Amino acid sequence: MKLPSSIKNWISITGTVLATFNLASIVSLMVLNSVFGFGGSYIGLFIYIVLPAFMVFGLILIPVGMRINSKRARKAEQEGEPLKWPIIDFNNPAVRNAGIIFIVGTVFLLIISSIGSYEAFHYTESVEFSGKLCHQVMEPEYTTYHGSSHERVACVECHVGSGASWYVKSKLSGLYQVYSVLAKKYPKPIPTPIENLRPARETCEQCHWPEKFYDRKMRIQHAFLADDANTENIIHLQFKTSSKMTANGVEKGIHQHISPEVKIEYKAVSEDRQVIPWVRYTNSITGESVVFTDSENSYTEVELDAMEVRVMDCLDCHNRPSHDYQVPQNFIDKSLAEGRISKDLPSIKLLAMIALNQEYPTKDSAFYAIKTQVKEYYEMIDPDMLTHRKADVEQAIAQIQRDYSNNIFPEMRSSWRYYPNNIGHMEAEGCFRCHNDRHRSDSGKVISKDCNLCHDILAQGTPGNIVYSSSFESLDFEHPVDIDEAWRVESCSVCHTALY
Ligand code: HEC
Ligand code: HEC
Ligand code: HEC
Ligand code: HEC
Ligand code: HEC
Ligand code: HEC
Repeated sequence: MKLPSSIKNWISITGTVLATFNLASIVSLMVLNSVFGFGGSYIGLFIYIVLPAFMVFGLILIPVGMRINSKRARKAEQEGEPLKWPIIDFNNPAVRNAGIIFIVGTVFLLIISSIGSYEAFHYTESVEFSGKLCHQVMEPEYTTYHGSSHERVACVECHVGSGASWYVKSKLSGLYQVYSVLAKKYPKPIPTPIENLRPARETCEQCHWPEKFYDRKMRIQHAFLADDANTENIIHLQFKTSSKMTANGVEKGIHQHISPEVKIEYKAVSEDRQVIPWVRYTNSITGESVVFTDSENSYTEVELDAMEVRVMDCLDCHNRPSHDYQVPQNFIDKSLAEGRISKDLPSIKLLAMIALNQEYPTKDSAFYAIKTQVKEYYEMIDPDMLTHRKADVEQAIAQIQRDYSNNIFPEMRSSWRYYPNNIGHMEAEGCFRCHNDRHRSDSGKVISKDCNLCHDILAQGTPGNIVYSSSFESLDFEHPVDIDEAWRVESCSVCHTALY
C-alpha cells in the first residue's frame, strides 16, 4: 500500500509506534481487567488516563513529523519560491490511501475516545479514585467516611458541584492534588474547612431540605467515668430539632437557623471559624435585624470590618457529616456501652484515656503503647488478672486499638484535635461559639446558653438510680462529678477537651 512519502520520517514513525503500542496496551488491559479482574482498582488510572495521554501524544507526532518533512522537501525543491499549501489529489493512490486511513482512523478514534472519556469521567468521580488512589493521604477521610450515615453518598456528591465550570475547576485542582501526592507536597493534616466546598444548597439540600420537619429526637447517652469502677452515667436528652407548639407558644427549634425566613450571618477571627465575635440575625418577613457582638472579645471596628461575612448554613453545625473524628472519651464510652470492652475490668476507661490522649508518631507505636500500658497496669494491681481474665483483657486491648485506628491517624496528623465537630458544646465550643450569653445586641438581648433552649433533659443518673422528669419538663442538669457550679460559668469544653 502506498502512502505519501512525507510520512517517512523519524518523528512520524516514532509517533505511529507509540500510538499503536499504547492502543494495544489499552485494549489488552481492558480485556484482562473485565474478563479476569486483573489489576485491581488502580488499573483504571492507566486505562483511562495515562495510556490514552501517551497515545494521543503519539498521534499528534505523526502529522507534526509529516509537516516538517514536507516543508523541508519542498524547500529543497523550490529554492526561493514562497511556500504553498500542499495539493490534495485523490487520483494519486498514495494520497487516496492516506486519506482513507485518516478518515477511518479519525472516526474510530472519536468513538474510542468518547467511550474512553466517558469511562475516564466516571472513574475520576468514583469513591475508589478519591479514596484509594491517594490511600495514605486520604486514609483518615476514607476511614471516617465508612461507617458514617453517608457511606453510600459518593465523595463527589459533596465535594464537586454540578455544571461544567465546577467540573473543570475540580479536575484542575485534582491534577494539582495528584501532583502534590506524587511529589509528597501535601500538607498534614489536610486543611479544613475546605474553601471551595460545594455549597450546602447544592449538596445537603438535594437530599435534606430546610423546611423538612423533624420530630423531636431522643438521645440516650451512656458515659463512663474514669474511676476504678468505670461508673456509668446516663442522660436522656430530647432534641428540639424543628419548631413545635408548646404551652408557652411556638418554640422555633434548632433548624430555625436555616429556615427560609431567617438569615444568620457571622464573622470569624480565623479560617477555622472557632472564634466568632460578630453575629447578625435578620428576619426576612418582618425585616427585623439585630447585631450581636461578643462583649469579651475586644476587636476594634476596623478589625471587624476586615473580616469576611459568612451566611450560616448546614455546615456551620454539621461540619463532620461524613468525616467525624471522635474524641477518645466518646468512642471508648460507645465500646463500653455496647459490651465490646468489658465494663467490669477495673479502671479500663481510665487506662484507655491515658493511652489515647498521648500523641504517637505512628499507628504501630500507638498499638504497642496501648497494649503494654494496659498489661503493665493489671500486672501491677493484680497479676492473676492476666490469667483468669485473659480473654477480656485481650479483647479490650484489641478494641481500644481498633477504635484508635478508626479515629486517630498519626501519619496524617488527623484527629479530633485538628478537626473539631461543631454540632454540640462538650469537647469543642460548637454551639457555644455564639450561644454563650456573651453575644449582646445594643438593646441588651443575648444569644442564649439556657440549658433548655436546644434540648430537654428527661432523665439523668446512674443505673438503678435514675431521676426521671415527671411532666415532660426539663430537669435541672446535675453534673455527674462534683465541680461545684463551674459548669454554669465555664464552657464545658474548657475541661472536657483536655480532661486527661
Ligand atoms: C455527605 C457529604 C460528604 C461526603 C459524601 C464526603 N465528604 Fe469529604 N467533607 C465533607 C465536609 C462537610 C467536609 C468538611 C468541610 C468543612 O469543614 O468545611 C469534608 C472534608 C473533607 C476533606 C478535608 C479534610 C477534613 O477532614 O476536613 C477531605 C480530604 C475529604 N473531605 C475527602 C473526602 C473523600 C475522599 C470522600 C469519599 C470517600 C468524601 N470526602 C466524602 C463532606 C463530605
Ligand atoms: C445523596 C443524598 C444525601 C446527601 C447529598 C446528604 N445526605 Fe445526609 N443523609 C442521607 C440519608 C439517606 C441519611 C439517613 C442515613 C441513615 O439513617 O442511616 C442521612 C442522614 C443525615 C444526618 C442524620 C444522621 C447523622 O449522622 O447524624 C445528618 C445530620 C445529615 N444527613 C446531614 C447532611 C449534611 C450536612 C449533608 C451535606 C454536607 C448531607 N447530609 C448530604 C442522605 C444524604
Ligand atoms: C444551628 C445548627 C444547625 C444547622 C445550621 C443545621 N442543623 Fe441539622 N441538626 C442540628 C442539631 C443540633 C440536630 C439534632 C441533634 C443530633 O441529631 O445530633 C440536627 C439534626 C439534623 C438531622 C437529623 C434529624 C433527625 O431527627 O433524624 C438532619 C438530617 C439534619 N440536621 C440536616 C441538616 C441540614 C441538611 C441542614 C442545612 C439545610 C442543617 N441540618 C442545618 C443542628 C443544625
Ligand atoms: C453563628 C452563631 C450561631 C451558632 C454557631 C449557633 N447559633 Fe443558634 N442562634 C443564633 C442566633 C443569632 C439565634 C437567634 C437569637 C435570638 O433571636 O434570640 C439563634 C437561636 C437559636 C435557637 C432558638 C430558636 C428560636 O428562636 O426559638 C436554638 C434552639 C438554637 N439557636 C440552637 C443552636 C444549636 C443547637 C447550635 C449548635 C449546633 C447553634 N444554635 C449554633 C446563632 C448561632
Ligand atoms: C445552643 C444549643 C444548646 C445549648 C444552649 C445547650 N446545649 Fe447541650 N447539647 C446541644 C447539642 C446540639 C448537643 C448534642 C451534640 C451531639 O450531637 O453530639 C448537646 C449535648 C449535651 C449533652 C450530652 C453530651 C455528651 O456528649 O455526653 C449534655 C449533658 C448537655 N448537652 C448539657 C447541656 C447543659 C448542662 C447546658 C446548659 C449549660 C446545655 N447543654 C446547653 C445543644 C445545646
Ligand atoms: C471544671 C471542669 C468541668 C467543666 C467546666 C465541665 N465538666 Fe463535665 N466533667 C468534668 C470532670 C472532671 C468529669 C469526670 C470525667 C471522668 O471521670 O471521665 C466530667 C464528666 C462529665 C460527664 C459524664 C462523663 C462524660 O464524659 O459524659 C458529663 C455528661 C459532663 N461532665 C457534662 C458537662 C457539661 C454539659 C458541661 C458544661 C455545661 C460540663 N460537663 C462542664 C469536669 C468539668
